[in-house]
Parts: sequence; C-alpha cells; structure tokens
Amino acid sequence: MSLTHERRTSQHPAGSGLRGPATVLPYARPESPEASPAAVRLDEESLSSLARLFGTSCVTPWSERGEGALDARAYELLELFDHFEVWVIHWPTDGLLQLHDHGGSSGALYVVSGSLDEGTVSVEGTYERRSIGAGQGTSFGPRHVHDVVNPGPGIATSVHVYSPPMEKMTFFTLGAGGLVPGRTDYRADPTWAP
Ligand SMILES: [Fe+2]
Repeated sequence: MSLTHERRTSQHPAGSGLRGPATVLPYARPESPEASPAAVRLDEESLSSLARLFGTSCVTPWSERGEGALDARAYELLELFDHFEVWVIHWPTDGLLQLHDHGGSSGALYVVSGSLDEGTVSVEGTYERRSIGAGQGTSFGPRHVHDVVNPGPGIATSVHVYSPPMEKMTFFTLGAGGLVPGRTDYRADPTWAP
C-alpha cells in the first residue's frame, strides 16, 4: 500500500473564517444524496473503521516528522479507490475549514494527534460544537454540514475517509434564517482539498 500519492501544502481557500455575508437566503438540503447513484457508498461504521485503521497504522503526526512549523493546512491523499478515498490533514493551531458539505458523500474522521473541534448544523439550523480528541473520531452521512478547526495548542493530525470519493464541496455561512450557500469547489479544481 503506497502511503503518499500526493502531498500538497496549502492554505485552503475556505479557511478564512465562519462569518460571511449578512444576506440570508433559504437553503434546503437535498433529500437524497447528490453523489452519483451508480457509486457504492460504504456505511458509516465501515468508514469509521477505515479511518481508525489508517490513523493507527500508517500515519505519522506532523510533530514527529521533523518538518518544522506549519502555517497552513497540509494534506495528503493516501488512497483513492472507486468507492472510497483516504486523506491525512495536518492542522496548524486555529486552522479552520468553514462550514461545508461533502457533495453527497458520506465520511468519517479520526484524530491521530492533537484535537479538533467540529461544529455541526442540524437540519433545523441549530449549530453545535464539540471536541474530538486524539484516538477519537466521528462519522457522517451524505447531508452532513460541518466546520472543523484545530483549537490548539499545537498541530493536529487527522485521517478523513469519504465514500464515494468526493466530487465537490459547497461552503456555507450560517445566518439567522439558516445555511447560506456560497462557493462550490470541484475535484478538478487545482486547489482542491477536502
Ligand atoms: Fe468535512
């Protein structure tokens, strides 16, 4: 199994913060997944198992790699199969990926080192944030919308599994009337990162 197919270090374009335009437009999440109906979707239990397996067997935390400071998210595509993909993301302190969906894919994350805060928006528009520590993880279905941030101190490393492999992500702000969709990134984009 090859561990590193691609590695890029980049400030994700969506990492600029939670707050956005004041205009609030109604947004209804799709009732059915947007991913290709022909794609095979692994269930959340399987995704969690894969994230934990990769996270405990073949991922080295940034702090143990001797690569110095990190001032922007660094991400690596470990595996890309027809039905799922595996990424590693290293998060500097305060590194944030603003509210986003996963283009109809399901997913799971596992924290290898440090901790991450995940903020989720329910279908009713309620926002809740919780901490996910090292050795812990979470999974989600195709309609999940969340943000993820490393509260620090120190660099956090996490494994992310998506099924089917993501084709796009839409970013949101949360207004008084609920989610307000903004930019959509596509896998073909040169700046693509999960
Ligand atoms: Fe996500």
